[in-house]
Amino acid sequence: MSKTPVHIGLLISGRGSNLGAILKNQEAGAFSNARVAVVFSNNPGAPGLEIARQHGIPALSANPADFADKKLYENHIVALFRDHQVSLVALAGYMKIVGKTLLSAFPNRIVNIHPSLLPAFPGLNAANQAIEHGVKISGCTVHLVDDGVDTGPIIAQRAVPVLPGDNEETLSARILEREHEVYSETLKRLTEAKWEVRGRHLFFLSDLPEKISG
Ligand code: GRF
Repeated sequence: MSKTPVHIGLLISGRGSNLGAILKNQEAGAFSNARVAVVFSNNPGAPGLEIARQHGIPALSANPADFADKKLYENHIVALFRDHQVSLVALAGYMKIVGKTLLSAFPNRIVNIHPSLLPAFPGLNAANQAIEHGVKISGCTVHLVDDGVDTGPIIAQRAVPVLPGDNEETLSARILEREHEVYSETLKRLTEAKWEVRGRHLFFLSDLPEKISG
């Protein structure tokens, strides 16, 4: 009996390099229980949409300014995602704050990747924030999306060094290499392993020591 894979809906706004890495891994057979079913962008000119199309994935867009309010805009996304049987949403460079409508349609089922070791340096220009602050290590974080900005339960992180002479471009590029690995690894794990959310913590059940697994 073949199992229906988890359908992932990707939300993007721009370049789409994480999207490209995920689709490449998908084609290489990395996901045994998931597939990217649809890509949506708030920016009809996002280069990532073309990447999705080249991989044969439906790539849709709508400008939020064409909707009377955020609720109607997000309802549009929810309806499209329902059409594609999406049950896990992955933000990959989606530059809009996720609102109540999407959050309540996919409770604890929206993930994001952020280019810092959260909770340090949330929001925009994270690599620059890290350089300005003078940290020696930065990296990236995959986390569940809640109603804050980059505040939801952390799922996975990867560290990279911040080197003397780094600028936003060099540090972002070093972090991006790790993003391209950890995002697919995390989507794979989320769709193949058992996990649950307890408060701020997302636990993979197989990682729990016996005494707190009950
Ligand atoms: C990545 O650095 C990601 O962490 C952040 O936005 C950037 C998107 O890059 N959320 P891309 O569009 O995937 O190339």
